[in-house]
Amino acid sequence: MSKILVVGGAGYIGSHMVKRLGQADCEITVLDNLSGGHRDAVLTGDFVLGDIADTQLLQGLFKRKSFDAVMHFASFIQVGESIQEPGKYYRNNVSNTLNLLEVMRDSGVDKFIFSSTAATFGEPRYSPIDEEHPQIPINPYGRTKLMVEQALQDYDLAYGLKSVCLRYFNAAGADPDGQLGERHDPETHLIPLVLMAASGRRPHISVFGRDYDTPDGTCIRDYIHITDLCEAHWLSLQSLLSGNPSQSYNLGNGNGFSVQEVIDAARRVTGKIIKVVDAPRRHGDPATLVADARLAKEKLGWAPKYADLETIIEHAWKFESR
Ligand code: UFG
Repeated sequence: MSKILVVGGAGYIGSHMVKRLGQADCEITVLDNLSGGHRDAVLTGDFVLGDIADTQLLQGLFKRKSFDAVMHFASFIQVGESIQEPGKYYRNNVSNTLNLLEVMRDSGVDKFIFSSTAATFGEPRYSPIDEEHPQIPINPYGRTKLMVEQALQDYDLAYGLKSVCLRYFNAAGADPDGQLGERHDPETHLIPLVLMAASGRRPHISVFGRDYDTPDGTCIRDYIHITDLCEAHWLSLQSLLSGNPSQSYNLGNGNGFSVQEVIDAARRVTGKIIKVVDAPRRHGDPATLVADARLAKEKLGWAPKYADLETIIEHAWKFESR
């Protein structure tokens, strides 16, 4: 039975991962400061309230318990906020992550799965984006994630710490059983906001820009179901536990959908009226972000189950309508 520490296990992606690990009978410890996560989203495992900035707490935890691997989901994720408050992002996403890595090193835990992002690539030079694409982030958020990716390469060379960096494109959807879903506060992501407009929790959805160089003028993104994302983490964990080397993977479906297409699909799925208001472009949004995820399929045997946009929205709708 693998012993896994899930840092940020009360958040959107972390909580789905904890459920997945529980189904595989792993011994799970969740460490979360509940700054963005929800205690009731942690369906299984031991819960420890705390922050990775707290070295003493980390040292105590790693002394008390042994771990085969650490999965790290605890970071700030808003591009706009990272531009306004870079210090918050560098401190938490970089400095606190290094703190965690140092305690892992002291404790001899040498396997790490890291939540990275498409934002490490910056403006796409070509599409779809594969792992060879240059990483030139255009905002502090993307830079913080790239810095950790680079630190992990150095930790591997110097200390033998093996890691998998998973670069998510647009994580979306919800647990197909309806137990878990996206509950960010404030919510900034398109699909939950569109569904809040459908359920009446919000008056409308704003479309940030209709003048992009795309067929309908709205931004194109590659939405990947949270369950498929978690499966990629699970396969990455198995890969590390069986002694494979460090690796980075881009995770998406390789299909781009425009903001307008997402709204149209949400209208079909929900059967509701969704009011749309046109708004200016949001700073830092590339026109198109689509993943080439062939490497994850080849090397990990990853096979997304819910690649269809309507299924992704349907599961998110089930959660929104709970
Ligand atoms: N959008 C709207 N209206 C909204 C919210 C979003 O039109 O109310 C648009 C955005 O402009 C964007 C698309 O919907 O074109 C998707 O936006 P999200 O905020 O849902 O997702 P992002 O593509 O901005 O963000 C994702 C990840 C980030 C990562 C980023 C990389 O969630 O962590 O991709 O650029 F940094």
